[in-house]
Amino acid sequence: MYFPDYRPRRLRKNENFRRLIRETTLAADDFMYPLFVVPGKGVKKPIASMPGNFQMSVDHIVREAKTAREAGIPAVLLFGIPDRKDELATGAFARDGIVQRAVRELKHKVPDILVVTDVCLCEYTSHGHCGMIEKGEVDNDSTLEVLAETAVSHARAGADMVAPSAMMDGQVGAIRAGLDEAGFEGTPIMAYSAKYASCFYGPFRDAAESAPQFGDRKAYQMDPANGDEAIREITLDVEEGADIIMVKPALAYLDVIRRAREEFDLPIAAYNVSGEFAMIKAAAQLGWLDGRRAMLEVLTSIKRAGADIIITYFALEAARALAE
Ligand code: PBG
Repeated sequence: MYFPDYRPRRLRKNENFRRLIRETTLAADDFMYPLFVVPGKGVKKPIASMPGNFQMSVDHIVREAKTAREAGIPAVLLFGIPDRKDELATGAFARDGIVQRAVRELKHKVPDILVVTDVCLCEYTSHGHCGMIEKGEVDNDSTLEVLAETAVSHARAGADMVAPSAMMDGQVGAIRAGLDEAGFEGTPIMAYSAKYASCFYGPFRDAAESAPQFGDRKAYQMDPANGDEAIREITLDVEEGADIIMVKPALAYLDVIRRAREEFDLPIAAYNVSGEFAMIKAAAQLGWLDGRRAMLEVLTSIKRAGADIIITYFALEAARALAE
């Protein structure tokens, strides 16, 4: 098997050989496209740190979802930015909340794309934390009820799947129980299981206007230094009823994706987060990287690591590039 008998270059000689032995291929089928919905009409406001992404009112969200569907993308992931925020995150579970309205309109006008909703409170709380504040801290158990109520309100509006991202202990179980009780036992949960306290969420917090007003998220999101703990977190979510498990961010955590792939038998999503997107866009704008190739290379690496689903702001661009 060793040189000079085995010469790996023989099978790299031309594109046809390379195609034949390629282990990983990307397709539009792999992508989930995050969208930011805001109140109003005719709003399409560029997000400075995420070129090509916008805060959009429901009418534009509908158009964008149609475009995504036409490009072959199976699902969008919705984030809402409400009119008003308060201590109790009431906008998160309001019947006519921004996400609930967007879901109803999407399921009505673009029925054949999956609408997945992010279930978190940080966009809806005045303090910007992902849960209820008690004695200056994010309180776990009182947050669970609010998360469950939010998930049920999304399902009532017609969401195809809910995706809890608050990193509260027990959130998947609480949401599963809430959904089942409300008659949504058929609605799956995509759990942000191993979600790290990452600086790569920076651009997202501008987009979603969800930066914490005091402190940080380190008391509920994971320490970037921990890999074994990710396995414990995922195990809990699987036991609580997760249908899809997620690792987030993706690029600095490819080892975690690979371990999850080896240890769990559920579909795995990886979130190629805002900062990972912004880095490539910025370098491409400076002429320091070939943006198109960098995009396809990192998306391929996430799939190679073991992800079945890639949540990415590149979704539309990559789907189009793959169709060329
Ligand atoms: C909500 C949430 C965040 C992201 C997804 N859901 C932000 C955060 O935890 O601060 C980040 C996504 C991205 O950076 O693209 N909690």
